[in-house]
Amino acid sequence: MAHRALWSGRFTEPLAEIALKFSSSIELDKQLYREDIAGSIAHVEMLGATHILTAAEARKIRTALNQIQREIETGKFRLTEEHEDVHLAIEQRLIHKIGPLGGKLHTGRSRNDQVALDERLYLRSAIRDINKLIIQLQRVLLYKAEKYFGTLMPGYTHLQRAQPVMLSHHLLAYVSMLERDLERMNDCCARLNKLPLGAAALAGTSFPIDRARVAKKLHFDGVVENSMDAVSDRDYVIEFIAACSLVMTHLSRIAEEMVLWSTKEFGFIHISDAYTTGSSIMPQKKNPDMAELVRGKTGRVYGSLVNMLTIMKALPLAYNRDMQEDKLPMFESVATTQQCLAIVAQMLVHSQFDRHRMEEELRNDFLTATEIADYLVRKGLPFREAHAITGKIVTHCIERRMYLGNLDLETLHQFSKLFAPDVFDFMLPHRSVEQKMSSGSTSPHDVKRQIIRWSRVLKVRRG
Ligand code: ARG
Repeated sequence: MAHRALWSGRFTEPLAEIALKFSSSIELDKQLYREDIAGSIAHVEMLGATHILTAAEARKIRTALNQIQREIETGKFRLTEEHEDVHLAIEQRLIHKIGPLGGKLHTGRSRNDQVALDERLYLRSAIRDINKLIIQLQRVLLYKAEKYFGTLMPGYTHLQRAQPVMLSHHLLAYVSMLERDLERMNDCCARLNKLPLGAAALAGTSFPIDRARVAKKLHFDGVVENSMDAVSDRDYVIEFIAACSLVMTHLSRIAEEMVLWSTKEFGFIHISDAYTTGSSIMPQKKNPDMAELVRGKTGRVYGSLVNMLTIMKALPLAYNRDMQEDKLPMFESVATTQQCLAIVAQMLVHSQFDRHRMEEELRNDFLTATEIADYLVRKGLPFREAHAITGKIVTHCIERRMYLGNLDLETLHQFSKLFAPDVFDFMLPHRSVEQKMSSGSTSPHDVKRQIIRWSRVLKVRRG
């Protein structure tokens, strides 16, 4: 049996069953019950402190709100579809428990500022959790970078073998990307951490409320200044999902490399059985499903971003019910980003890189061709000429099905008399990385420096 809606004063007919079902958001926004109650408690304490309610009234309401929280958590009170949303459900329960006094809670407030408050509180704590997961993944990557320090692998551009790099360098690139993700999350959090409550429906309220007090109680850095802005924008949700989208972009790239690297063709990584699955028909198969799912789930978050942008596009001020549709993209982005961060970290911890395979591939190729060109440059040739000569050497090798390592000095002299016996040293993959001098390069010296810096940073970081 549906309740008579709390707003039904001017209505002669109840909301049609199908309309209630269509418009109810409780299946999703019930996740906000903690935030909703925390916001209501801060609000009612302020109503008491400003004598809008008596101290005794405020106390009674606060006690009942705490009880409702316990009732929800113990399953005694269920947030079900007969309610329009979490805000009305809790208020209705309050009135049911303490009578008409419960109706005083909503003084000087509206669901429009209430929902914005709940979301800001929710995102603030979701960001805290996401940040912990980002840091955890950074730590795993750093751990692997330390563990495999010294391992060389082909570095790629266009997915074509380019130059030898240190595996640690490759892994630390992701640590840097995740660092910016963390910064974006923190930026987003700093901007959304303002109290919208007190905007009431859109124009503010004629009650002498104390917004600063509520802001302080809920640990906000001040209030949203303009009441119409406070209830009509969801830019903080959009910004948050945009930050999640970039996290997912980075995770999808790690995931893609895990998929690629675990193929027979690459054979660079062994993902533990616990994070792979078998085929129901092909007994030999071991599939990197978790990594594929991370790649696939990235679509949910990007979709949520477009969803949110589209909901908000061209909406006239101030609140519009369209905005209720923000719940799904918001919750979906939080859940997906958190799950994917956690699974990638676990999957990486339980993976092993195949150092032997990586280094083998370095020998059987032309990855140090740039080094030969640079060698000639050191002997005085302009780089373009050196590049052309080296290109010819590579073609010579390809035609004879051989690699740089198989060349002898006599052959090299056919291409340039500048080659001396020390050129063979230059062609060695480990020499290639050791010769790098620019800061931020893949030289062991620089990679070690990155490892030391990240160890220091991540050691003291909480999370
Ligand atoms: N469930 C609504 C939402 O999430 C709460 C605000 C509703 N306000 C209103 N005036 N109908 O947007």
